[in-house]
Amino acid sequence: MATTKQTTFSSNLGVIMAAVGSAVGLGNIWRFPYTCGKYGGGAFLIVYLCFVFLLGATLMMSEFVIGRRTQHTPVKAFQSLHPKRAWGAVGLLGLITSFFILSQYLVLSGWTTNYVWDAITGTLASLGTDAGNISNYFAAFSTSGSRPVITLIVFSIICLVIILCGVQKGIENVSKVLMPFLVLLVLVLCVRSLTLPGAGKGLEYLFSPDFSKLTGEGVLAALGQALFSLSVGMGVMIVYGSYMPLNDNIFKTAMWITACDTLIAVLAGVAIFPAVFSCGFDPAGGPGLVFCVLPNVFNTMGGAGVIFSTLFFLLLVVAAMTSAISLLEALTAALHEHTSMGRTFSAVLFFLLSTALGVLFAMSVGPLSHITVGHAHLTLFDFVDRLNSIYLPPICSLLTIIFFGWFMTEKDVKDELSNHGTVKIGYYRLFRLLSRYVAPLALLLVLITGIF
Ligand code: PFF
Repeated sequence: MATTKQTTFSSNLGVIMAAVGSAVGLGNIWRFPYTCGKYGGGAFLIVYLCFVFLLGATLMMSEFVIGRRTQHTPVKAFQSLHPKRAWGAVGLLGLITSFFILSQYLVLSGWTTNYVWDAITGTLASLGTDAGNISNYFAAFSTSGSRPVITLIVFSIICLVIILCGVQKGIENVSKVLMPFLVLLVLVLCVRSLTLPGAGKGLEYLFSPDFSKLTGEGVLAALGQALFSLSVGMGVMIVYGSYMPLNDNIFKTAMWITACDTLIAVLAGVAIFPAVFSCGFDPAGGPGLVFCVLPNVFNTMGGAGVIFSTLFFLLLVVAAMTSAISLLEALTAALHEHTSMGRTFSAVLFFLLSTALGVLFAMSVGPLSHITVGHAHLTLFDFVDRLNSIYLPPICSLLTIIFFGWFMTEKDVKDELSNHGTVKIGYYRLFRLLSRYVAPLALLLVLITGIF
C-alpha cells in the first residue's frame, strides 16, 4: 500500500516532539486551565482524562494510521484508501479547517508576541497594579490595528523560516529544542506560583472536584477541548503520520503524546491559578485571564515580576509557534503534493494567504470592527472563532472517524497498527469499539449541541 516518500522524521523521539509541539499550544496553557476551573476542577479533570485518552487518542491513532499507511497528505490519503474518490473531500475540509485555525491562531500569537516585548521592555511593569489601567492598555493595544498586525507578521515570518528549513532540520530540530525549553519554563513558573502565600486556594480551584459545576455544557467542553488540544480532526496528524518512521509503534507514540499534552495543560494550571488566587484576583476566562489578570499578578511580584512575565509570555509564544508550524506544514505539504509547485513556493503561498487573513481578523478587533456577519452581528474574528470551535473541527473529526471505523479495511488498520504483524495489538477490540461506535456518537452529540 505504502509508496516510498523521502520526507520522514528521523526518529520516534522526533515524531513525539513534533506532535507534542503541535498539540501543546494556546489551548493547553490558556484555555485548559480556565475551562477546568470553570466546570468543577477535579470533576472536569476526570471527564477530560477519559475523553482525551479514550477518544482523543483514538482519533490521533486513526490519523496516524491513515497518514502512514498511505504516505500521503489528507486528500490523497483518503482517496487512496477507498475507491470512492469523493472521500477526498474530507481531507480537503480538514485542510480548509487548518487554514482558518491557522489564521485565527496567528492573531492570538501576535498578541502574545507583543506581550513578550512589553514584558522585556518593562512596559507591562509600568502599568502597575491598577486593574483598570491594565485592561485599558490591552483594549487600546488589541484595537489599535498597527501593533497587533506587526507582531502577527513577525510571528508568521519565524514560522515560515522554520518550515523552509524542512521537516527534519526545521520542524523536528526546532521542536526538540523548544519542547524541553517549554517544560523548563512551565516548571519554573509552577515553583514560583506554588511558593506564593495562599497558593493552596488556586490548587483547590483547579483540582478539588465540584460535580455541581460539571454541567452537560462542561462535559461537551471537555470533549471539544480534548480534540482541539490533541490537534486532531484537521489533517495535521495525517501529515505527521505520513512522516512517521515505518517501525514506530503508533499506539505507544499516541499515548506518549497524549500524556505529555495533558501533563503540560495541568502544569499550566498549576503555574497560573495559585498565583492568581494568592494575589487575590478572580480567575477570569478568555483573553482577560492572560492579558489582564496575569500582568497584574506579575506586577504584584515587584522586580521579579518582569522576569516571570517575560518567561510566561515566552512560554505562550513557544507553545503557539510549534502549533502554528504544524498547521502551516500540513497546508504546505498538501499543496506541494497536489501540484507541481515546489515546497518553498507552497510554504510561501500559504504563509502569505494565512497572514493576510490573520491581518484581516486582527483588524476586525479594532479598525474593522464595523464589518459584521449574520444576524448576531459578529465581527470577523468572532465569526471565525465560532467556525473554528463549534462547526469545522467536530465535523472533520466525525467524518474522519466514520471513514476510519466503517470504510477502511480492517486489514489496512491492523497491518499498520501492528507494523505488519511485528507488534502486539492487544488493545485492538477496545480500539475498534471506540472508533466505530463511541467516538462517532460522542462527536455527533458535540456537533448537534454545538449547532443548536
Ligand atoms: N493543539 C493546539 C492547542 O492546543 O493550542 C491547537 C491546534 C494546533 C489545533 C494544530 C489544531 C491543529 F491542527
